[in-house]
Amino acid sequence: MSNSTIEERLTIITTNENIPENEFSSDVKVGLTSEPKFLPFVHFYDHTGSQLFEKICELPEYYLTRTETKILEAYVDEIISQFSEETTLVELGSGSSTKTRILIEAFLEEKRLSCYTPIDISRQMLEESSYALLKSYPVLEITAVAADYNEGLKQLSSQTDQPKLIIWLGSSVGNLDRSEAEEILKRIKKLTHSHDRLLIGIDLKKDRITLEKAYDDEQGVTAEFNLNLLARINQELGGDFNLEKFHHHVRYNDKIGRVEMYLASDCDQQVIIEDLDLEVPFAENEKIHTENSFKYSLDEINLLAEQAGFFVEEQWFDPQKQFSLNLFAPTDVCSLKNFRRIES
Ligand code: TRP
Repeated sequence: MSNSTIEERLTIITTNENIPENEFSSDVKVGLTSEPKFLPFVHFYDHTGSQLFEKICELPEYYLTRTETKILEAYVDEIISQFSEETTLVELGSGSSTKTRILIEAFLEEKRLSCYTPIDISRQMLEESSYALLKSYPVLEITAVAADYNEGLKQLSSQTDQPKLIIWLGSSVGNLDRSEAEEILKRIKKLTHSHDRLLIGIDLKKDRITLEKAYDDEQGVTAEFNLNLLARINQELGGDFNLEKFHHHVRYNDKIGRVEMYLASDCDQQVIIEDLDLEVPFAENEKIHTENSFKYSLDEINLLAEQAGFFVEEQWFDPQKQFSLNLFAPTDVCSLKNFRRIES
């Protein structure tokens, strides 16, 4: 196997070849003609957006990536010890797959990795990260899926009966409303057999200052990431947004338990988007809601798991309990375990 070329070890499935642009324009039209205005967060992740996001992950204020990486490093052996057979590692929203290397290396060392299946919306990102991984690990095989979560999960259902470890890191679940999160976890649950597990990174509730700083860094990288949405509209839909006349705005909504991100207009202005035949009026300080990042308490994590048909089998934290890594197992396994306990 180690003699095969990178090309032989890589399969890329693309399901979203022409969807993103159409979806982008219709989403922009709906979002900017709504009251209040909004833009769906999936459109952050074009190639520039994905690269900016990688930069966010390295910011001193953005504790999430660093903390999650440390938890993974500390507990990787425990995590993979849950799998005794050859396992397929599946990743939702894989991005650069940097953190995943920790798991890949540990699985390879034990010779228990059958295939890595990253799913990401940016095909270019997927190609770059897959090539880098295949270069680093000469026996690794990758079946990559360029798709959004829904399409990607559909693809998965046709794959292997081997045990799967599905990983969903970076608190990406937090970018969905609590009900959307429940929906997607239910969909994942449908794809899992009793030997499969979901490893999910979830950011925890904490003080306002830490949270707001994480999404509003001093260097302005998160602002650039947010404003890139307007740059995309200019480039791809013939918009004339003046990026100097909008600013990044962040607040922690502690009632709902989420960090909210907006683009706010500095003045009264009109923006024209030629391809959509649209003129969008903005009042001074009017905001476009671009992103939420929900934060969870431990009870809310348990509830999320339960609602979707999972239970929290294992849970790991950093020493300060800023972030959590959770191993969700299908509930049927829980009843099986209890049954055995009662019997013995
Ligand atoms: N899921 C991560 C989070 O909520 C990453 C993320 C998504 C993010 N959108 C973002 C980070 C916008 C910064 C800005 O933190």
